[in-house]
Amino acid sequence: MGGKGFVDLHSHVLPGVDDGARSLDESLLMLRALHDVGFRVVCATPHQKADTFPATTEQIAQALADVRRGLATELPAMELSLGAENYFDEWFYDRVQDLSLPCYDGRKAFLVELTPGAAPPRLEDLLFGLRTKGLLPVLAHPERYRDLVRDEERLQRVARVAALVVDLAALGELFGSGPARQLVTSGLAHAAASDMHAASDKRSIARGLAWIEKKLGSAALVRLLVENPRRILVGELPD
Ligand SMILES: [Fe+2]
Repeated sequence: MGGKGFVDLHSHVLPGVDDGARSLDESLLMLRALHDVGFRVVCATPHQKADTFPATTEQIAQALADVRRGLATELPAMELSLGAENYFDEWFYDRVQDLSLPCYDGRKAFLVELTPGAAPPRLEDLLFGLRTKGLLPVLAHPERYRDLVRDEERLQRVARVAALVVDLAALGELFGSGPARQLVTSGLAHAAASDMHAASDKRSIARGLAWIEKKLGSAALVRLLVENPRRILVGELPD
């Protein structure tokens, strides 16, 4: 499945900054695995969560520089860029107030994750407010927010102000047809991403890619893994 030029909007490939890679070697193994299944641009999105993942901007910048140096010699075809997975907590609120949310490549789009289960009340109003300020919210693994995926009307409202990015592993599940698959077949999901935490996630990620291709064809793969992620990175919400 190599050489497809996929763009990964969600991964934990930086060493020692969250619950993803633990060492530079592990980072490079993970990036090699993503390369094997077709990714050529990977956005590292370390968790930003008050108390749990307190890595500073400087620590993250250092980890990014270390991995980029390793890639230059071991995997020069891979491009690594930086985002963050912002947890919907008090840090997030503070950063919304002063518009200092860490965005992809310091631009306009930012990744956000919610507490699993219930989506916060008035979520779409808050996201809409950020959209009017020129930002693009990107919602990580919407399939995990049960209240949201059960409420078609609300889901559509959210999808009009935020890009929905499902996890590939959720698409690749062996049994049943979970909410991630419904989000993709209904056309509501804008993109799919690896959310890789360890190199061993490669198999489930590959299964998710294979499921998209088999179920919806290679054009869908290009739309969800190449075209739409590229539009999202420049702050555009794909239709
Ligand atoms: Fe994540």
